[in-house]
Formats: sequence, structure tokens, C-alpha cells
Amino acid sequence: MATSDGNMMRKTLIIGATSAIAQATARRFAEAGDALFLVARNADKLAATVDDLKMRGAPSISTETLDVLDYDRHKGIVDAAVEALGGLDVVLIAHGSLPDQKDCEQSAEYARKEFAVNALSTISLLTHLANYFEGKGQGTIAVISSVAGDRGRQSNYIYGSAKGMVTIFLQGLRNRLHKSGVHVITVKPGFVDTPMTAAFDKGFIWADPDQIAAGIMSAIRNNSDVVYAPWYWRVIMLVIRAIPERVFKRLNL
Ligand SMILES: NC(=O)c1ccc[n+]([C@@H]2O[C@H](COP(=O)([O-])OP(=O)(O)OC[C@H]3O[C@@H](n4cnc5c(N)ncnc54)[C@H](OP(=O)(O)O)[C@@H]3O)[C@@H](O)[C@H]2O)c1
Repeated sequence: MATSDGNMMRKTLIIGATSAIAQATARRFAEAGDALFLVARNADKLAATVDDLKMRGAPSISTETLDVLDYDRHKGIVDAAVEALGGLDVVLIAHGSLPDQKDCEQSAEYARKEFAVNALSTISLLTHLANYFEGKGQGTIAVISSVAGDRGRQSNYIYGSAKGMVTIFLQGLRNRLHKSGVHVITVKPGFVDTPMTAAFDKGFIWADPDQIAAGIMSAIRNNSDVVYAPWYWRVIMLVIRAIPERVFKRLNL
């Protein structure tokens, strides 16, 4: 795959790089020969991720640690990635947290923090990244939202509404950046077996992180707009969204 400047090495920034889904995707970027700039909160996990990617032949990896709630550092992180890689072709934003819904119902402070991690930090980072890519006139912005953002349910509406906020933000951003030649991809995974969902019982509908990584890579290749991962979640959510509100409010979901 050729980069914007005719160079064969794509320049890829991953924020939330130690997430299981991001790691699986980073392996695929590394195998494709991308130069990587990885951003994550935990320095030890980040170092282990770098070792793994080097073993898989990653040609070039730079890193930076960041707690995404440290908004004041967002622009500096984007600038550091641009400088280290000599520009950006692709960014993947993958960080997130799955709060306890019941605890959020009891603590407005906890609910606000979860909104900050899952929505506001992403929107802040995207504001800097969007301006960079708009100025450059090409590139791909991929962000992991969730099927949970498609409809509010009593069991997880704090997480779901934060992801819904990201999904709507990305719709507007895609509409804004289309004319600049910048592709904005909304990734909506269903249930994925990762540390985030370690406490859940798993069934046939669950996917592993590499299935989501395959969906992300395919979406980048095809300049997709919205990708459900795995694909069957598009059908499931079509049905869920079609249920009239007067029926939906009575369901125990
Ligand atoms: N697993 C699912 O079923 C599922 C479904 C739909 C969407 N998603 C989304 O997929 C993305 C990846 O999640 P995952 O399933 O791969 O889970 P994961 O392995 O638990 O990864 C979550 C990542 O977010 C990072 N993070 C959390 N708070 C942060 C903060 N304040 N600053 C910096 N990093 C922070 C974590 O860093 P630490 O390692 O430092 O904690 C971790 O790397 C998330 O956006 C998630 O919402 C997941």
C-alpha cells in the first residue's frame, strides 16, 4: 500500500495501543510494514506491546505514555507523533472503559468520569487530529465506538450514551472532512473477549480481538464509513433499533 507521498511505509498512530483490540490491529499494521507511533497509559504494558510487535517484524516503533484524561497533553501528543513519523497517514483511537452501570447510577462523579474517558477525551483528541488531517488533505481516522451506542439500554446506558456521542461526533466529522479527502471510520464492535469483558460469561456470539482487527483493516482498505464487527452485528442492531420505544421501554435489556 502506497502512502500519500509515494513512500511504501504507512505512518500510523494508535491511541490506546495496549487495548486487546488495538494490539491485534497493531500486529496487522506491523505485518503490513507500517511505521508506528503507539500511545498508551501503562508504560510496562506499552513496552511489552512494543516487544511483541518487534518480534513480528515491525520496522519502526515510537511510543508515548498518556492518560487520556490529561487533555492539556493532547495537542503535544499529536504533534509528537507527526514529528516522529514525519507525518500521519492513519490514526486508530481505541482506548475505553466499561463502567459498572449500577455504580454510575449512584455516583454522578463516576458517571462524569466515564463520559470523559469514553467520549470527551476521544472528541478532544479528534479535534486536534481532524485539523491536522484536514490541512494535509488526506488520511484515515478510525475510531472504536460500540454497538452499545446504537440504542440506550438500562444495563449500560452510561457507556452506551458515551459511545453514542462518539458515533454522532464521527458522523459530523466524516461529513466535514469528506471534501478534504479524509476518511473517517466508525468501528462498532459487538461483544469481544478482551480484558474489558473478562467478568462476562461468553457465548457463540462473542468475537476475539483479531476478528475486530480484521474488520478494521478491511475498513481502512475499503474506505468504509461505518463498520460493524463482526458483520452480523449490523443485522442484530437493525432489529434492536427497529423495536418501537413503547415496546422497548418494557424490555429487560
Ligand atoms: N470488548 C468489547 O466487548 C468491546 C465492545 C465494543 C467496543 N469496545 C471498545 O473497544 C475499545 C478497546 O477495548 P478492548 O475491548 O480492547 O478493552 P481493553 O483491552 O480493556 O482495552 C482498554 C484500553 O483502554 C485504556 N484506557 C482506559 N482508560 C484510559 C485512560 N484514562 N487513559 C489511557 N488509556 C486508557 C486501557 O489502558 P490500561 O491498560 O492502562 O488500563 C486499555 O489499553 C474500547 O474503546 C472499547 O470501549 C469493546
